[in-house]
Amino acid sequence: MSINIAVLPGDGIGPEIVREALKVLDVLNREYGLNAEWEEAAIGGVGYEESGDPYPEVTRKLSREADAVLLGAVGGPKWESLDKPLRPEAGLLGIRADLGLFANYRPARVYRQLLDASTLKPEVIDGVDLMVIRELVSGVYFGQPRGIVEEGGQRKGLNTMSYTEAEVERIARTAFETARLRTGRVCSVDKANVLDVSEFWREIICRVHGDEFSDVELSHMYVDNAAMQLIRNPKQFDVIVTSNLFGDILSDEASMLTGSIGMLPSASIGERHAMYEPIHGSAPDISGQNKANPLATVLSVSMMLKYTLNQSDLADKVDAAVEAVLDDGLRTPDLAGGEQLVSCSGMGDAVCAKLERMGAEQV
Ligand code: IPM
Ligand code: MG
Repeated sequence: MSINIAVLPGDGIGPEIVREALKVLDVLNREYGLNAEWEEAAIGGVGYEESGDPYPEVTRKLSREADAVLLGAVGGPKWESLDKPLRPEAGLLGIRADLGLFANYRPARVYRQLLDASTLKPEVIDGVDLMVIRELVSGVYFGQPRGIVEEGGQRKGLNTMSYTEAEVERIARTAFETARLRTGRVCSVDKANVLDVSEFWREIICRVHGDEFSDVELSHMYVDNAAMQLIRNPKQFDVIVTSNLFGDILSDEASMLTGSIGMLPSASIGERHAMYEPIHGSAPDISGQNKANPLATVLSVSMMLKYTLNQSDLADKVDAAVEAVLDDGLRTPDLAGGEQLVSCSGMGDAVCAKLERMGAEQV
């Protein structure tokens, strides 16, 4: 039976990096017996241009019917002045909500080969392997009321940070289950010293822990302290579970431990659907120049193989191919260093060549 993937390249560097990830899928089909098929559709700014909607109806239908979605990136200066619901970001938030992708896995793993690419000292980051689990379809991103309103002759802007009990319970379970497969530690990040919503969050996390996961080690940290601890001593973390906004911020911060945001993949998972995307954005400043790092997208394919397609062995192969090209010293510009500079497509080709060689050695 074939696997159907909805491919949504999106804006900026999205199409370039997705192209490389599809080359990798091609090799897996050809050399490793994967039976993946895909269809492309528009999202973000491109979706708006095509149909006046950043999450067009055809894209919605395709994504709902697919076994998994692979997304590049959305956004760009061209669409910044549009009304909020028409902006590319509304397309991304739209698909997350529509598919119910409440659990966002953002692993930050430091590659030995890239120790020098980080701005932090090698001894601080060597061995970092953490997982930010970000709640993705609620919190201040989606809470009501929101808007820019007029009140007593004054304009004001507002958003609402809120979580229901069920929303915290399900992300808590995700985090504890993930920790069981890792080193068994969860740090829940909140702002419970100030925010009621965080106090509630903490209460539910503690209850789910006590009732169902007391074998997992649980700690709590305020988000300001967590931001500091990530830089001071990142190796103390295994799984970090946090709300939508805090997770957005902390995952960008965590990416800098690894040297480049261009290395970080993600998986967004719900009850019935899953989407895979690099955590970096559309990088309009380098789009169309064949300079972007495709590895975050390639590693997102690896996450797809593991989490949705039950092909952990193939995921391991993709990860090994990425390690191998880094071992060879290949670097896209974001990874700097004195090694061999390659383009986006050069990096993609190198990963494919490694995979082909590994496939040939197997038989
Ligand atoms: C991310 C991005 C998005 C977010 C933007 C593009 C809407 O920063 O995936 O982290 O804030 O969730
Ligand atoms: Mg972000």
